[in-house]
Amino acid sequence: MKIILAPMEGVVDYAMRELLTASGHYDLCITEFVRVVDQVYRPAYFHKISPELSHDGKTRSGTPVRVQLLGQHPDWMAENAVVAVELGSPGIDLNFGCPAKTVNRHRGGAVLLQEPETLYKIVSKVREAVPASHPVSVKMRLGYETTDLTLDCARAIEDAGANLLTIHARTKVEGYRPPAHWHLINDIRQQVKIPLIANGDIWSRADAIKCQNISGCDDIMIGRGALCLPNLVSVIREDAAPMPWAEACGMLIRYAAFVRDAPARGYLPSRLKQWFRYLKREYEPAHLLFDKIKRLRELDEILAVIQQET
Ligand SMILES: Cc1cc2nc3c(=O)[nH]c(=O)nc-3n(C[C@H](O)[C@H](O)[C@H](O)COP(=O)(O)O)c2cc1C
Repeated sequence: MKIILAPMEGVVDYAMRELLTASGHYDLCITEFVRVVDQVYRPAYFHKISPELSHDGKTRSGTPVRVQLLGQHPDWMAENAVVAVELGSPGIDLNFGCPAKTVNRHRGGAVLLQEPETLYKIVSKVREAVPASHPVSVKMRLGYETTDLTLDCARAIEDAGANLLTIHARTKVEGYRPPAHWHLINDIRQQVKIPLIANGDIWSRADAIKCQNISGCDDIMIGRGALCLPNLVSVIREDAAPMPWAEACGMLIRYAAFVRDAPARGYLPSRLKQWFRYLKREYEPAHLLFDKIKRLRELDEILAVIQQET
């Protein structure tokens, strides 16, 4: 069974990937998306999205980190893919699932699920441009408003030569509303040969097993669940005990330590508070602790309060 850490823009950044891949075995991480419109980014920008490029495209625990691109122009996507790979990304992931209004309005992300032929053009251009040694994976939702084109999209992606397809089992208009329709992944699986990764609403070991059974996929991707329970990957793989609260607080502190010297450290207090929104789902004490820090602005004040829990 392969377990992939989901890309999450503004949440699963470099520091989070470092921490989560150190807390259990992931097979692969995907970066936050690089929005491609009509330019080729400089190496510095790719390094900002994926500092792992300086470490052979891997986290310090050795998990490969694949750069994700989001865009609608096949040529620009292909040119950026080549740069990312030359810089050391172990493959390319293409995002056809983003539901953000601004992105969709400019013909990026999930809106392209209405145009299987555009998906085909983008994936085939990128696949042709990137050396065969480097996998090109794709992430899609079931559709934009309906599931009418799910199979056409999956076939277009397969025909274009993608090596792997992750399906977040919801349409764009369903947002993140449960349930994820794992059974629809199974319908696609029976029609395509490309390996599929099932994604959506895996919060526990029981969910992972159920998702495998219903989707028929061995391999899964986990996102929000991995933030709620930071060792979810080991809970799923090895039936490990859930990480105790004090340890989760230790991770919050380590996260801050990673990011505090980065140029963007200003966002750190809000990132820490954002992580609490996820931790509250799994840990009762997170509710009380969040009340204590929610009005604090200074990083050191926030960390001092969290420190008391460890
Ligand atoms: C805050 C947030 C940011 C996300 N950013 C991305 C992204 O950059 N690229 C992408 O392909 N999916 C993105 N997703 C979707 C997730 O990768 C995943 O498909 C979704 O959360 C469902 O999986 P889960 O139920 O395990 O969280 C994002 C989701 C959330 C909640």
